[in-house]
Amino acid sequence: MTAAIADYLWFEQRFPDLAKAYCITLVGPRAVIGGRMTAPNVPACSRPPQGCARSARRRMTTWARDSVSRMEIRPAGDGDIAEIARIATANGDGDGANPRYVAHLRGNGGFLVAVTGREVAGYCAIRRFAGATMLCDLFVDPVRHGGGVGRRLLEAAFPGSEARFTFASQDPRAMPLYLRHGMRPRWPLLYLSGPPGRDAEPSATRVDVVDAGAAESLLTGVDRTADYAYWAVTPGTTGVLVYDDGAVAAAGVAGPDNLIHLTTASGHDPAAALRSALTVFDAPTVRVCLPGPHPAVEDLLRARWRIDTYDHHMSSVADIIGSDRVLSPSLA
Ligand SMILES: CC(C)(COP(=O)(O)OP(=O)(O)OC[C@H]1O[C@@H](n2cnc3c(N)ncnc32)[C@H](O)[C@@H]1OP(=O)(O)O)[C@@H](O)C(=O)NCCC(=O)NCCS
Repeated sequence: MTAAIADYLWFEQRFPDLAKAYCITLVGPRAVIGGRMTAPNVPACSRPPQGCARSARRRMTTWARDSVSRMEIRPAGDGDIAEIARIATANGDGDGANPRYVAHLRGNGGFLVAVTGREVAGYCAIRRFAGATMLCDLFVDPVRHGGGVGRRLLEAAFPGSEARFTFASQDPRAMPLYLRHGMRPRWPLLYLSGPPGRDAEPSATRVDVVDAGAAESLLTGVDRTADYAYWAVTPGTTGVLVYDDGAVAAAGVAGPDNLIHLTTASGHDPAAALRSALTVFDAPTVRVCLPGPHPAVEDLLRARWRIDTYDHHMSSVADIIGSDRVLSPSLA
């Protein structure tokens, strides 16, 4: 129903509550009453009552959801790299802004983008690990957060009922989304930093990254050549080997001030292996990502290490990945 401005002012003056309840809105020289507006360029309410703002929001959400259901989900191409970097940077993530990281996951897993027209709205990356699908990354353009893009990407990333896991950020949308895709919270992945310590048995040394990868394959039977090849081209990175009684007890990768990854062979103490691995650093402060139940956490906290932040490990099946390793959150 439409009315002249004079009618509107008269009505609002006498019946302010009714005007609010029926959401009367000025449209150019006329007023529109009661949610009958269908034009997409809805003007702002002259004095927006709550209900009007809410119904406008509802309409926008409906349009957004419609556009999300029509959104194309496809493998990322070379032409998407800049858009992926834009979305990663807008979310404060360094990995997605690194073309080598994106190339690694495109080549050794899967990398999907959600596209409307020519615009990338979000992306996700997956890979197979430990017989399960790992969600490595899920990032949505901040202007579209909460609009259903993440859900569409997850539906495409996990099409079947296979085992799956991820490390969920503290974004309030992440955990509910993953819970509804069959993953339960298992333990926190702690981002710790502190003094590396100097004395430790067994002993550790920096080695060539590729040699450390070969050693890990021998220790665990898991071939992580592709990941080690990726870490090998990260500036300042070396392999790390920990020896116990002359035999290799743990293998991993370290940057100048961060232990990126460490796997300890069964039969060796993961806490002792970590203490040794930390002796390869010259930096006064070192960073590691440790599962909350890792046996070294308590000692590190006693040695004045700090928990800087944490993610949540979520999985469809318990114990897909061991909680006694130094983990690299997006590569495990
Ligand atoms: C986390 C992220 C990927 C989710 O994608 P998204 O498109 O924003 O999320 P969606 O809209 O598809 O889904 C979010 C869901 O969480 C629900 N939700 C939001 N806050 C919630 C809360 N506090 N409690 C319960 N559910 C909540 C929403 O209602 C929505 O469910 P619905 O689709 O049934 O309405 C995205 O917000 C993002 O990029 N965040 C920043 C980067 C980040 O943290 N990424 C995750 C890395 S693990």
